[in-house]
Amino acid sequence: MADLIIGCLSQKGGVGKSTIARLMARTYAAAGWSVKICDFNTRQKTSVDWCAMRAAQGVEPIIVAEPYNSPSSMKREPFDCVVADGRPDSDQSSLEIARAATLVVVPTGLTLDDLKPQLLFANELVAKGIARERIMFVLNKTTDSDLAVSEARQYILQGSLYLVAEQDLSAKTGYAMAQNTGRAPSESKYPSLNDKADTLAAEIVDRVNRLTENRL
Ligand SMILES: Nc1ncnc2c1ncn2[C@@H]1O[C@H](COP(=O)(O)OP(=O)(O)OP(=O)(O)O)[C@@H](O)[C@H]1O
Ligand SMILES: [Mg+2]
Repeated sequence: MADLIIGCLSQKGGVGKSTIARLMARTYAAAGWSVKICDFNTRQKTSVDWCAMRAAQGVEPIIVAEPYNSPSSMKREPFDCVVADGRPDSDQSSLEIARAATLVVVPTGLTLDDLKPQLLFANELVAKGIARERIMFVLNKTTDSDLAVSEARQYILQGSLYLVAEQDLSAKTGYAMAQNTGRAPSESKYPSLNDKADTLAAEIVDRVNRLTENRL
């Protein structure tokens, strides 16, 4: 039985679900947990391919991934931690994953084109019974404009009071290249990028711990 399920979900494609899923899978695996990524993007299977690449390159710790389409089965997986890497445009599957998950991470870029649908998506989850406290936004692919980052944060917070991770993930070739070789964003060639990814991961772990301790 899985002790912990983290869902990386969004309606928008290409916002960073798989990137954050890999970051969290690696973080828990490095802490000694057995980890499986359930790859709900069964057409592209990008995280399955990523895990195969990771194994081929001999990167440790080991992470398992499988194409997946049954959210209700995740709890029965014999892994300490299951990370659901969602697929875009799948309301029903996303809702079921969110119901099974301790925490739902919603990555978003800084443009309104990303922010608006992602906020609507989170609002829909809440309307369908997912506790607001179980949703955490992550700003991904940020640029070096502090103003753009703070405006995006404000947009999400406006009237909705979702949690937004303090640490964003900037758009860096190093993160993309790491993933091309089966590595997580925290396993890139660049210590400063790894530090930021680790800081974000620690924030997400902290949120998970609060939710499980307090049973929000
Ligand atoms: N912070 C970043 N810096 C650089 N490249 C990034 C970053 N985040 C994501 N990418 C790259 O952007 C692309 C989309 O990211 P990712 O695959 O994580 O999004 P996704 O939400 O899972 O997409 P999909 O909806 O297609 O499954 C990938 O090529 C990924 O390597
Ligand atoms: Mg993906």
